[in-house]
Amino acid sequence: MRETLTLKDPETMAAWAEEQRRRGQRVALVPTMGYLHAGHLALVRRAQDEGDRVVVSIFVNPTQFGPNEDLARYPRDFDGDVTKLREAGVDVVFAPEAHAFYPQGFDSYVVPERLATGLCGASRPGHFRGVATVVLMLCHVTRADVAIFGEKDFQQLAVVRRMAQDLWLPTRIVGVPTVREPDGLAMSSRNVYLTPAARLQARALNQSLSDIAQQVQNGARDARQLENTLRQRLEATPGARVDYASIVDAQSLEPVAELNREAVAAVAVFFGSTRLIDNRRLPIPMTLS
Ligand code: PAJ
Repeated sequence: MRETLTLKDPETMAAWAEEQRRRGQRVALVPTMGYLHAGHLALVRRAQDEGDRVVVSIFVNPTQFGPNEDLARYPRDFDGDVTKLREAGVDVVFAPEAHAFYPQGFDSYVVPERLATGLCGASRPGHFRGVATVVLMLCHVTRADVAIFGEKDFQQLAVVRRMAQDLWLPTRIVGVPTVREPDGLAMSSRNVYLTPAARLQARALNQSLSDIAQQVQNGARDARQLENTLRQRLEATPGARVDYASIVDAQSLEPVAELNREAVAAVAVFFGSTRLIDNRRLPIPMTLS
C-alpha cells in the first residue's frame, strides 16, 4: 500500500501537486468537510479511476456556513477519516487550517448568481458563494486535473460545473450518484444529529421522491401538482418541517410548470435543527408517436 501523506500547509500541497504534474501524473481531487462515510468513499474510488494521484481535502469551510448554522458543532473525526483514507489508498489528505487558507485580509470571492438563488440558496444566503470560492481555491492549490462531487448536493454540483466553465478552470468536474443507507436515506455527515425517531421518519425524503419519479414514469406531467403531492407527503411526516419541495429544470434549476424535458425533484427538510436534503432526477420516458 502507498503511504498517505497528511499536508496542512497550502504551499506544501501546491509543491507536491506541481511535482506530480511534472512527472506526468494526473491529480484527482475529492473536496470534503470530513466525517467521512461510504458516499465520500465512492467519490474516492471514482477519483482513483479518473486520476493517477488522489487528494482528499478535509476542510470545514467557514465561508459556506451562515451565522446561525452548525459550523462550530459540525461533526469531526479527523483521525478516523485519515484511517479510512489510508485504507482506501489515498495519496494525500489535505487539511489546511482556516486561518492559513483564508489568511488575514482575505477579500476575494466567487459569487454564483442565477443557479444559486433558488432551493438551498434561498434558505442559505451566501452558502454557494462560500462553496464556489473554496472549491476554486482547492482546485488551484491541488492543481487538480479532475474534481469529484456527489449528485446528492445537486445544486452544489450545478454551481461548481458552471463556475468551472465560466472561469475557464482547467479542472474537469465529475458527478457521482448518491450513496444510500439500506433503507434509502441518503448518506450524510449530518445524519448523526438525528434522534432515533427522526432517523426513521427521515426515510420519507427518499420514499416521497421515489413516488414522484414513479408518477412521472406513469405519465404525470403537471409539475405544480407533483410538487404539491411531494410537499404534502413530507408535511405529513411526524417531526418534519419542510424547507422546500421543488421540481426544477435539470440545467437551469428554474421552476418548471410542465415536465417536457429532464427535471429534478429536490427537497430540504428539517428534523429539529437538522436539515437534510435529497433529490431525484425525473427523466421523461420516450414517447412513441
Ligand atoms: P461534504 O458534505 O463533506 O461532501 C463532500 C462531497 O461528498 C460532496 O461532493 C457531496 O456531494 C458528496 N456526498 C455527500 N454525501 C454523499 C452521498 N450520500 N453519496 C454521494 N456523494 C455524497 O459538500 C461539501 O462537503 C462541501 O460543500 C465542499 C464541496 C467540500 C466544499 O466545502
